[in-house]
Amino acid sequence: MTEKPIIAPPADRSAWLEARPACLEPPGATPRHPFRLVLLGPPGVGKGTQAARISAWLGACPLSTGDVFRHAKATETTCCSPAMTKALEKMSRGELVDDAIVLDLIRERTTCLRCGFGFCLDGFPRTVEQARRLDVLLAELNRPLHAAVDFTLPREKLLRRLSGRRTCPKCRRGYHLETSPPRREDHCDDCGEVLQIREDDRPEAVAVRLEAYAATADPLLAYYEASGRLIRIEAEKSPEAVFRRTVRTLRARFKEAPPEPWKQSET
Ligand code: AP5
Repeated sequence: MTEKPIIAPPADRSAWLEARPACLEPPGATPRHPFRLVLLGPPGVGKGTQAARISAWLGACPLSTGDVFRHAKATETTCCSPAMTKALEKMSRGELVDDAIVLDLIRERTTCLRCGFGFCLDGFPRTVEQARRLDVLLAELNRPLHAAVDFTLPREKLLRRLSGRRTCPKCRRGYHLETSPPRREDHCDDCGEVLQIREDDRPEAVAVRLEAYAATADPLLAYYEASGRLIRIEAEKSPEAVFRRTVRTLRARFKEAPPEPWKQSET
């Protein structure tokens, strides 16, 4: 595969967060290898951290279903539907949101799945039903999934990553007290906001999240393994090292047939 420079992703993620029909693609950038990926793995393994890096590499947006729920909560106007209220209650307890709600949310955002820069879904799918429905949707869009990347890490390290996580409520940038602390204590380097602890990082919600993951992970991984799309990556070491390992593995796997950009006539 040809080397390509990292392209900064578009700053505007409103097409994903608010289900807008159009988005701002990076000006002047041309995608070369638009991978369509889903990132799997337990809470705290670093999916969001890697989604940001991989998306920057692709020139795409990081597409997190958890971010859609958190955005809905932060913007009162979009969280008043009974379905969303129920979803947010489940999320704050650490439970998985019902498949039907999550699938509706994905169907409202097909613009992002059609993106010429590829995509990197973080936190979706979580169940075999979600994975099957995603495959059906992508087949309809003529944009099949290239790979499901499963990040792995021992439980004690997951707990450490979750307990040290801090997030900027304004720009959503993530930090870790030990491994990537902000320059000024408790404040975002980019926008100066006071950093927050995620509601579902409370120990009781973390226990429920890890249980929910354990209950759904094996069949989901088996689903992707059976179709030859599963790639396992150890998530030990620094975020940069994990990113390099992921890109190396993708390049090796797709050496013979790298994803090609879509021609205008195919979109
Ligand atoms: P979601 O937001 O998807 O949360 P999650 O899957 O539990 O994952 P996290 O965001 O907690 O962790 P992460 O793996 O992204 O780790 P991060 O990069 O932040 O979902 C939240 C909730 O929404 C769910 O519980 C559910 O209720 C609902 N939901 C969402 N999608 C759903 C779906 N499809 N179906 C049903 N319900 C759904 O990293 C963690 C910390 O570690 C950070 O501080 C980071 O800085 C640090 N770190 C990361 N990588 C490294 C590294 N390599 N070395 C050292 N530190 C690192």
